[in-house]
Amino acid sequence: MQYLLDTANLDAIKKAYNFYPMDGVTTNPTIISNENRNFLDILKDIRNIIGEESMLHIQAVSTNAEKIVEEAEYLHQIIGGNLYIKIPVIPEGIKAMKILKDKGIKITATAIFTAQQALMAAMAGAEFVAPYVNRIDNISGDGAFVVNEILQLFKHYNLDSKVLAASFKNVQQVHSVSLAGAQSVTVNPEILDKMLEHPLTDWSVNQFINDWENIYGIGKLTLDV
Ligand code: G3P
Repeated sequence: MQYLLDTANLDAIKKAYNFYPMDGVTTNPTIISNENRNFLDILKDIRNIIGEESMLHIQAVSTNAEKIVEEAEYLHQIIGGNLYIKIPVIPEGIKAMKILKDKGIKITATAIFTAQQALMAAMAGAEFVAPYVNRIDNISGDGAFVVNEILQLFKHYNLDSKVLAASFKNVQQVHSVSLAGAQSVTVNPEILDKMLEHPLTDWSVNQFINDWENIYGIGKLTLDV
């Protein structure tokens, strides 16, 4: 499993990279707009925090293939590092994916709601496909089932593309796509923290500390010399 953080909030990114086994950061135009400052500064700051090797997925905002390609090349010049250009699975997006694939630029197909969209994007050269699990669930669909279908299609057609499951509102959705075999998930900072939360874990840790300190005093195992 690869964990990515779906945010442009610098404090949240610093915290996640400090505590958790992170593989990257994903953004989209909404996420970047939420920060309400110069978008290139935000993206450069994120790259500085996560380093050159960590994945950074940045979404194109144009809806015309040639303009998407321009944006992708620009982002490569300005931001660089292990960069993925997120492109929605509209016809102009698929065209842009084919062009960028030939230029050796890595692509994440996004705004995916069906397995057929994911298959088309993979055939066009996307390295990752991002199905929107919670948005599918919200319209009486089954996001985890769509992830399952995508994985079956990729296996069936022997495709190397990977699932980057996105749009989660609870830990159970993350669990469902993990069981299905999604290679990666991108979650917001709240969900990332919640993935570890359990009241009995906290209760157990507190009990261990109390029992230890009742006998040995200070709560540490190392001996003072
Ligand atoms: O990256 C796509 C994802 O951010 C969409 O998530 O929570 O807005 O449905 P959400």
